[in-house]
Amino acid sequence: MPAPRECSLKEFLDLLRDSLNRDACWGVVLSQPCRGESPSKLTVRPVELSGERCYQLAERRGKQEFHLNLNAAALQTRITSDFGERFEQADLFAPDADYSARVIRKDVVRLTKRRPSKSAPALTHDRGKQYLIPEGRPCPFLTEIGVMTPAGQVKAAHQAKFRQVNRFLEFVDDVLPELPPTGVLRVIDFGCGKSYLTFALHYLLTELRGREVEIIGLDLKAEVVRDCQQIAERLGCRGLRFEVGDIAGYETTGPVHLSVSLHACDTATDAALAQAVRWQARVILAVPCCQHELFGLLSDAALPGLLQHGILKERFAALATEALRAGLLEAVGYRTQVVEFIDMEHTPKNLLLRAVRTDRPSLESRDRYEQLKQQLDLREFALERLLSRDRD
Ligand SMILES: C[S@@+](CC[C@H](N)C(=O)[O-])C[C@H]1O[C@@H](n2cnc3c(N)ncnc32)[C@H](O)[C@@H]1O
Repeated sequence: MPAPRECSLKEFLDLLRDSLNRDACWGVVLSQPCRGESPSKLTVRPVELSGERCYQLAERRGKQEFHLNLNAAALQTRITSDFGERFEQADLFAPDADYSARVIRKDVVRLTKRRPSKSAPALTHDRGKQYLIPEGRPCPFLTEIGVMTPAGQVKAAHQAKFRQVNRFLEFVDDVLPELPPTGVLRVIDFGCGKSYLTFALHYLLTELRGREVEIIGLDLKAEVVRDCQQIAERLGCRGLRFEVGDIAGYETTGPVHLSVSLHACDTATDAALAQAVRWQARVILAVPCCQHELFGLLSDAALPGLLQHGILKERFAALATEALRAGLLEAVGYRTQVVEFIDMEHTPKNLLLRAVRTDRPSLESRDRYEQLKQQLDLREFALERLLSRDRD
């Protein structure tokens, strides 16, 4: 095997890209945190999810471990941003060799190539469905809202809700590495309603992940808020409280790390997104609902042959709304994905916007947003209005 040599960090990243493109990446480890970074290690292994090759990323921070599944492109982006910034050492395991890259100065690494140490991974995954809240483990808030029996059995009529709660928790768990690793996590749930997902969030962060939290559930409906507050007190949910208020005018002091809005009606989602951007929330999770705005604004002439059919126009308006929202979030510096929240069989309102603050506004995304608006012959859009009002 050749002696170690100096090369650019980019050359190592190109090696990684090449191995990912050829499905020949059998693992990656990032280690040796850079100065000033807290101790952590990131391990990647290929897995198969729904028949597709993905990569499971496990990040150990102190005693905690966080998991995230990424496709090849997202993994490449993640490693590109972490190697050299957060970690000084990267190991890539490929069929032909093990590659070790150690940062020796900015953008330069010492690259060592060794005989391969790993054999082809068995790409079996899923290991059965491992829910964060498994059936059989009594969970007080699920019992309180009638989903579980006190012994931990999920009631037949509430299986779908049980799956939805767990699915939501998986999304939150996946973004935990993006949130401050220590201290009180501040979370706002806009339009919390009956709040079963707010209670679930509290359970995950405190009981399962051992974090101290301040979680605020906000809703317009005083009665609902009062009931939720009573449940929180009865269950002794520390750091969880409910307030009556309108998303649009809500003020808070101190940072907001995670902003959640789930099925907030129509442009209430835009109000929630705008507030989160204004507060520079680290992560935004939004499951939009009933996107009426665009339905009213789209003229049939913009896409003749499609928009004259009411049902198609409704669905198209919903998809276009999320594309425009995602574009605007990218434009103001949030790395944004639109993903499926729950299976189509439950509801067509099943998209989730997952946005992580990067502090790098994207002019390219702004251009794409403007282009899409032009193609749709739109003159206005609620989120754009709210964001520019906050900027002025
Ligand atoms: C469909 S429910 C969703 C409840 C809960 N987030 C969930 O996913 O189960 C929408 C909630 O948003 C609240 N809401 C709508 N507009 C709001 C606003 N501008 N400010 C605060 N809450 C709002 C409603 O009162 C309602 O409780």
